[in-house]
Amino acid sequence: MCVKSHFVILGVTIIILICSFVPVCLSSYPFPEHDLKNYITNYSTNYNISDDGNELKDSQNLINYDRLILDRLKHSHSHSHSHSHSHSHSHSYSHGGRSRAVAPSSSPTRIINVENFIKSGRRRDHTKGFKRAWKKACSTKGAILLVPKNKKYRLRPIKFSGPCHSSFAIKIRGRIEASTNIADYRDRRLWIVFENLSNFKVQGRGTIDGRGHIWWQNSCKINPTKPCQHAPTAVTFVGCKNLIVDGLKIINAQQMHMIFEKCDAVRASNILIKAPGNSPNTDGIHVTETKNIQITRSRIGTGDDCISIVSGSKNVQVSDITCGPGHGISIGSLGKGNSKAQVSNVLVNKARLFGTLNGVRIKTWQGGQGYAKNFVFQNIEMQNVSNPIIIDQNYCDQKTPCHEMKSAVYIHNVMYKNIKGTSFTESAIKINCSKSHECRGITLQNINLVIKNGKKAAKAECKNVELFHRGKVSPKCS
Ligand SMILES: *[C@@H]1O[C@H](CO)[C@@H](O)[C@H](O)[C@H]1NC(C)=O
Ligand SMILES: *[C@@H]1O[C@H](CO)[C@@H](O)[C@H](O)[C@H]1NC(C)=O
Ligand SMILES: *[C@@H]1O[C@H](CO)[C@@H](O)[C@H](O)[C@H]1NC(C)=O
Ligand SMILES: *[C@@H]1O[C@H](CO)[C@@H](O)[C@H](O)[C@H]1NC(C)=O
Ligand SMILES: *[C@@H]1O[C@H](CO)[C@@H](O)[C@H](O)[C@H]1NC(C)=O
Repeated sequence: MCVKSHFVILGVTIIILICSFVPVCLSSYPFPEHDLKNYITNYSTNYNISDDGNELKDSQNLINYDRLILDRLKHSHSHSHSHSHSHSHSHSYSHGGRSRAVAPSSSPTRIINVENFIKSGRRRDHTKGFKRAWKKACSTKGAILLVPKNKKYRLRPIKFSGPCHSSFAIKIRGRIEASTNIADYRDRRLWIVFENLSNFKVQGRGTIDGRGHIWWQNSCKINPTKPCQHAPTAVTFVGCKNLIVDGLKIINAQQMHMIFEKCDAVRASNILIKAPGNSPNTDGIHVTETKNIQITRSRIGTGDDCISIVSGSKNVQVSDITCGPGHGISIGSLGKGNSKAQVSNVLVNKARLFGTLNGVRIKTWQGGQGYAKNFVFQNIEMQNVSNPIIIDQNYCDQKTPCHEMKSAVYIHNVMYKNIKGTSFTESAIKINCSKSHECRGITLQNINLVIKNGKKAAKAECKNVELFHRGKVSPKCS
């Protein structure tokens, strides 16, 4: 069943010793990693999983901050409502870039309505108006920047940069569309950027439309005669701390839909992301060098990864996610070009994947360094997924073949629990680790994957892996 090293025998002995005193242990994780255990038992409430204690503080800040912003948004709602009927109301917004008389200090909220910063007659491009509105909101205490309902705005690449006056929110209720003029994008990777913001919230049921078709046509994946070049990410958060993103709809991104990069303490919820299944590299949510992030209650259908988590990310919780079409939920790729990767403490809980290319995947390149450890994938339903469970430590996505190398990003402690559904291909489970660094502590517990409409049984292929089967597992690695 598994290759036992001394390390494992020792570990198992310790567990058996402890478990003979504590009966609950029997159903718990075979590797008593403190972080991970805490993580599983308490995943839904907070980020209390750290080894340095910082995350707890952050999560508490975030919760307090959330309350504060919620209160403000309640205020803002009544304010903006009154504006739509009457412009006589005095204090809560600015006109033409010049501030009106400000609110008495008892009122914490000021609505900065972006509409009031757009010069009349501007139909095709509203970037400057947004910049002026941002500048105002960023320097105003307790501001809420409002993108009003039933309005449509068109933006060239734009950076909303901090630091701003403490705690601040943008409420997107209208529609924001991208410029389709490729020449507008001097940095081909970026469209809307939120950078260096702390205690910031993006909220609203508005739509952000990347109008990506022009970029897709020019992608080398669609048209091999074209050079392979970057296309912009629709919404990038970089260097943000205590960030809440709630309720956004992002469609047809030029390339990726949303990136969290170098952020700390993030809650993203109720996100809707949609692009055609054949749109190239249109990942849903990409997490890089970010810690303490929670992504919940979201629906993502695109042409690439639903959620991708890459190096430098730690304490990532993903729950209540529906994916499809697309490439599924992915950790990696890691270790490309002999780079060092570090990803730890990832929980994926309650996910549904429909017709995706992969279900849950870990992928690392040969020759990399560092680690990918402490992952839990649980309570997952797959329907017609081509590769439901996959670990590929020999990932190679380039034209020239990848040679066997001595170093690898090691993969330790991965739990797959309560995963069921249908596989489009015969190989429902594929765990292909490197010869030099076998995957350790991989557990399959209560797995039931069958071939969709198939008469044959599903298969599990496992290579160079220390594997544990618990409960009912089908298919089993031989
Ligand atoms: C789980 O989180 C709750 C709420 O923050 C906390 O009160 C409780 O002590 C935590 N339990 C564990 C086992 O960490
Ligand atoms: C966080 O974890 C520590 C260590 O396990 C525990 O003592 C503490 O009660 C937890 N706090 C919360 C709020 O969960
Ligand atoms: C954001 O922060 C980074 C790192 O602290 C810094 O290098 C960068 O210049 C900042 N950007 C802005 C616009 O302030
Ligand atoms: C199942 O997935 C395959 C491959 O993605 C696709 O060709 C097929 O149409 C799907 N079947 C159903 C019933 O959705
Ligand atoms: C595993 O990876 C090796 C090296 O890339 C490859 O040759 C082999 O075909 C793979 N096995 C499976 C079952 O995918």
